[in-house]
Amino acid sequence: LSKGQNSLSDKNERFSSAGFILAAIGSAAGLGNIWKFPYITGKYGGAAFFLLFIVCLLLVGLPVLLAELALGRAGRGSAASAMVKVGGHPIWGKMSIMFVIVPFVILSFYAIVGGWTLHYAVEAFSGSLFSNKDFAGQFASFSSGYAPLVWLLVVFAFTSIVVTLGVSNGIEKFNKILIPAKVILLLVLMVNALMLPGSGAGVSFFLNPDFSKLSIESALVALGHAFFSLSLGMGIMVTYGAYVDRRQSLGGAMLAVGGGDLIYAFIAGMIIFPTTFSFGINPAQGPSLVFIALPAAFSAMPFGAFFGGLFFVLLAVAALGSMVSLLEVPVAYVMERFRWSRVRSVIVVSILCLLLGIPSALSMGLVPELKVGDKSFFDFVDFTASNIFLPLGGLLIVIFTGYYWKTAGEHANLKPFWFRVWLFGLRYVAPVLMLLVFLHTSGIIKF
Ligand code: PHE
Repeated sequence: LSKGQNSLSDKNERFSSAGFILAAIGSAAGLGNIWKFPYITGKYGGAAFFLLFIVCLLLVGLPVLLAELALGRAGRGSAASAMVKVGGHPIWGKMSIMFVIVPFVILSFYAIVGGWTLHYAVEAFSGSLFSNKDFAGQFASFSSGYAPLVWLLVVFAFTSIVVTLGVSNGIEKFNKILIPAKVILLLVLMVNALMLPGSGAGVSFFLNPDFSKLSIESALVALGHAFFSLSLGMGIMVTYGAYVDRRQSLGGAMLAVGGGDLIYAFIAGMIIFPTTFSFGINPAQGPSLVFIALPAAFSAMPFGAFFGGLFFVLLAVAALGSMVSLLEVPVAYVMERFRWSRVRSVIVVSILCLLLGIPSALSMGLVPELKVGDKSFFDFVDFTASNIFLPLGGLLIVIFTGYYWKTAGEHANLKPFWFRVWLFGLRYVAPVLMLLVFLHTSGIIKF
């Protein structure tokens, strides 16, 4: 391999076994679990929705996760070349360019929300967030100024530095600090939330299922979120899989990552629902829940500035773990395709991605005219990437692995029984469900 290519002989381009699992959990357990999961759970049925989410994680999430990891390790290249490297027709290579473009696009707006969380952490600790109780007004005036652009730059700079340091010295080391920090923050915040007066109603909403609240729509939302939550369908796990040792058990890694993601979602729910119920806040109010409703709760609780600050640090840390994985996918591709060094690839990709992020950030405030149809540019980019291309990417993976990749079994290295279960899931269960999710999220069919 030439210089600059993703060479596994270069020690820095490889994960240790534990480092790989931590990095994959760091990507999965991101903002989605703590910012999006609670409000969709609030909206689509509480505990019953949470159970559905677990079923989707097991039924579709885990098999697809394993498929991505196995494909990555067998292909040992970027997400765009893996299918061809394991013997697929070049047409698969053309289609899998999607795996590089989608994370790039997602990063451009995910980073904006990451920047908000950092701003809120600073404001909460400094006390200025709570000095004015009009939280909706504060959010509106913050997001319509220039500050989000500055925070966008800050989170980008940080993410780029981690990725520039490489797989082992950057991504792995960063996650080894980040995951324990996340666990401590989650536990402290959960204990605090459970001690609030009236928190029991929140726990029961989250854990006591009422199946009459479910609908086909909630099932599809649960499935889509299981997918998003495990960072599937966009080449992340394919890219990370390429840095994994032959001896690593991928089945074990799949369980560890799926379990880690689920526990994280569970604790996030055990923070958000007790808090919102204790303060009479509706948990289903959508994306603004975390930035508008929760500050109100923090401001009213004892030591609210401290716990509020910790909460936003948790969000920021979660965002950064996912951002690092999102950036690594296009960087690995550029390194392989153009044989550039890691540093050069990171600089070019980051600048392009930042440029794409600017109209999204502006469309949220300063320049509301930036619209596509009736959606702000931000919402348009989010919608197209998350609701259209993500499920399509998932379909591509399951069809390739289930039907075309003949040696998938050897690479996944499962016991014969589990291999048959996996293949059945990939061939018959996942494609049908993914197709339904795609038709639903893209708005082609309505339930
Ligand atoms: N899995 C991440 C989360 O739950 C979101 C994410 C999606 C991250 C796609 C990277 C890529 O927040």
